[in-house]
Amino acid sequence: MRCDQTPAWAQLLSSAEAFAGFDLRQAFAQDAGRAAYFSQEAPGVFADLSKNHWDANVQTQLLDLLDQTGVLAQRDRMFQGQAINNTEDRAVMHWLLRHPEDGATFWPSSMRTALKDVHLTLNAMLAFAEQVRSNSQITDVVNIGIGGSDLGPQMAVLAMQAYAQTGKRFHFISNVDGHELDAVLRGLKAHSTMFLVASKTFTTLETMTNALSAKRWFEAQGGTDVSAHFAALTTNVEAAAKFGIETCFGFWDWVGGRYSLWSAIGLPLAMATGSENFRAFLAGGHAMDQHFQSADAPQNLPIRLGLLDVWYRNFLNYTSRCLAPYHSALKRFPAYLQQLEMESNGKQVDRAGQRLHFGTAPVLWGEPGTNGQHAFFQMLHQGSDVVPLEFVAVKNAVHPLPDHQALLLSNALAQAQALMLGQTDAGGHKNFPGNRPSSFIVLEDLTPFNLGALIALQEHRVFVSGAVWGINSFDQWGVELGKVLAKDIHARLISGNAQGLDASTAQLLKRLR
Ligand code: F6P
Repeated sequence: MRCDQTPAWAQLLSSAEAFAGFDLRQAFAQDAGRAAYFSQEAPGVFADLSKNHWDANVQTQLLDLLDQTGVLAQRDRMFQGQAINNTEDRAVMHWLLRHPEDGATFWPSSMRTALKDVHLTLNAMLAFAEQVRSNSQITDVVNIGIGGSDLGPQMAVLAMQAYAQTGKRFHFISNVDGHELDAVLRGLKAHSTMFLVASKTFTTLETMTNALSAKRWFEAQGGTDVSAHFAALTTNVEAAAKFGIETCFGFWDWVGGRYSLWSAIGLPLAMATGSENFRAFLAGGHAMDQHFQSADAPQNLPIRLGLLDVWYRNFLNYTSRCLAPYHSALKRFPAYLQQLEMESNGKQVDRAGQRLHFGTAPVLWGEPGTNGQHAFFQMLHQGSDVVPLEFVAVKNAVHPLPDHQALLLSNALAQAQALMLGQTDAGGHKNFPGNRPSSFIVLEDLTPFNLGALIALQEHRVFVSGAVWGINSFDQWGVELGKVLAKDIHARLISGNAQGLDASTAQLLKRLR
């Protein structure tokens, strides 16, 4: 049933009205069990969701909404390999990429075959990663890709820097803006560089333009052995071969771009950290898959987070969520999650193409703490809008510097506390309203396993809100129009033909020629 037609939706609407007077300070004062009730252990991750604007009654109604919208059946369809990406008639099986070699006995043979292929490719890709790792001649690895073919590996290589082999530098080129590639190429030598052309489709304008320029640069530098210095990570093996790349690691159309870090797209991570760590990363993701599939809904962390997201978006009308990782190696995590959530759930029609009359994906944004505290936290504390904040803290640091970690963690805790408690007796400019919501996610250590679990948690949480809303979280038609128009404008920018353009575009075209 469509979510806004369910009895639970109506109940949640009246709960939201009653929630106008809800105050976190009172909620904690009245209920000694609140912190425990709204906390959740999951593989690799602990989450305290108690400083949020909800109570047990709301959570129960949200769980009813989950039932009434058939989210669990949809989850099961994903894990059965059904074509739940209905607009592209594709299965959604990124989870299979992190599944151990033995499939379940009840699986159809097509899924067993897919799993076999996954492991064959994984083994080949990891062998290649080890080969490059042990080749001391290669000092620089350049990943050329954009969107899911960039944000995932870039975020993860940085996150796992403590596990990375020294002596190799990793560069990520995504933008068609030549300044980016040019700046990197200036510091490279052809004989010591390995280029990875990462593109699910192998047609993306930015990636193809950058790959071609990289190849031209390589040849101009005297590089002759393209096959030894270029590898492709793609579902389009044919196009990679046409481009002249022989070393190719494939994946499948049932892996969405923003879900592809677990596939050959993860090669930079495997090269940086080695096969054992890459396998641990996959194991963390798999452990979260099992939790999502088997934990009862009230104790299921992706479900609880996904439902909280729906409550905030549709009932309390919070239109954005801020993410603050208190670990500098998680610097790119907000950018990665932006694509994951906003490209998945930024839609206004349901799976059947019918217009939806309620909000879907919130705006997701953020920066690492403590940096954000000295920039936009002002608005979180005293601004006119309520923006739920999600902290991600890592208990143990790996650097040897004294004092820093305790200062970092106390800042995270203090910010969550300040948001909630506020300061209502200071008057005027010094007044903090308090009662501002936040979630607090804790990892014991930033290990490959825990990172895998954290990412899979976010994938499933996005799945849950998308499934409640009844949208297809696995297509991205909204990126197509701009691509088509850019082709036309490109020709016009070269020819100067502004005929038929609106006055603003025509004027800007003229100015930019
Ligand atoms: O244009 C959006 C998009 O298709 C993303 O979904 C994808 O991650 C990105 O472009 C890159 O696509 P590809 O890996 O096919 O180059």
